[in-house]
Amino acid sequence: RGRHLTDTFGRVHRDLRVSLTDKCSLRCTYCMPEDAGPFLPKDELLSGAEIERLVRIAVDHGITGVRLTGGEPLLRADLEDIVARVAAIERPGGGTLPVAMTTNGITLDRRLPALQAAGLARVNISLDTLQPEKFRQLTRRDRHADVLAGIAAARDSGLRPLKLNAVAMRGVNDDELGDLVAFAVSQDAQMRFIEQMPLDAGHTWKRDHLVSGEEILERLSVRFELAEVPGRGSSPAALYTVDGGPHTVGVIASVSKPFCGDCDRLRLTADGQMRNCLFAREETDLRTLLADSATDADLAAAMRLSVTSKKAGHGIDDPDFVQPGRGMNAIGG
Ligand code: GTP
Ligand code: 5AD
Ligand code: SF4
Repeated sequence: RGRHLTDTFGRVHRDLRVSLTDKCSLRCTYCMPEDAGPFLPKDELLSGAEIERLVRIAVDHGITGVRLTGGEPLLRADLEDIVARVAAIERPGGGTLPVAMTTNGITLDRRLPALQAAGLARVNISLDTLQPEKFRQLTRRDRHADVLAGIAAARDSGLRPLKLNAVAMRGVNDDELGDLVAFAVSQDAQMRFIEQMPLDAGHTWKRDHLVSGEEILERLSVRFELAEVPGRGSSPAALYTVDGGPHTVGVIASVSKPFCGDCDRLRLTADGQMRNCLFAREETDLRTLLADSATDADLAAAMRLSVTSKKAGHGIDDPDFVQPGRGMNAIGG
């Protein structure tokens, strides 16, 4: 059993986010361009067996939970197999690995029973608007009803906590934040609002467009009584009870109130690159190591190397900040 994945600032890495594909069934403006692609060729994607091996090594070095992301993980035909493989990995202290997924929800209604049987423990579903026409403009696809069907399936599945994510956007959905909270409560879910980060493929992000966490709270306070829940740990979201609870709403203020100091997240891209941060400038190539018959020790050393070069924070406010070359869909939300 190896040492923990600790960076030069003493942050111990517990959470591994594994992107399964850079493809998506939507084209959200804050994430991908309309003419997205070319996408990763199929032979460059990690296989289920490769993902299982890399996750097992990471778990041997202190990772205690895995989140599957994309792109859209439901576009992987072998998703059920991947979930089964990863969920069966044993943790050093005993017990199996909690496996969660971040998804846009499309086709989730059809696949959730098999995913649950494979061991999926939790889902977070992206929902930026309750209005079908707005959804069509924002995502460039007419799939709002499919997303709502996925949310209903998650609600009925009993998987909890169920979380809904919305990127807050000025002039787009900043007028319906309260409605989104009410909808989430009706689905027994936690609504979370995310400050938009400079990760869009079109590079159109502007700081003065930001709907800040503070503004989100101000807008919600008109309609709900909010009380902060203490004990947030390494979670990106600050939580508030809604009208005395039990439901809560989360604010992910990555830009205005960075939480990098408590970051415990590592990322594996769909093509097998380890990224120590959403905003990392460099990646560590595990896929080539796998192809060159690397040992577990070689792969663990590469993971440690990636962690060692992690920066203190995302640096969005630095004068020399450069947006990552890949969009969110390729990095893995
Ligand atoms: P939970 O375990 O349910 O709390 O999941 P999560 O919030 O870590 O995962 P999810 O994929 O739902 O994340 C929601 C959003 O939070 C992401 O889409 C990002 O916008 C933001 N986020 C998550 N992790 C990070 C991170 O490490 N850094 C930054 N800056 N933002 C993050
Ligand atoms: N800023 C913040 N969050 C983003 N997401 C995608 N792009 C961005 C961005 N530029 C989030 C989506 C979804 C998750 C996969 O990533 O809202 O919840
Ligand atoms: Fe961690 Fe990077 Fe996210 Fe900051 S921006 S919380 S360092 S992944």
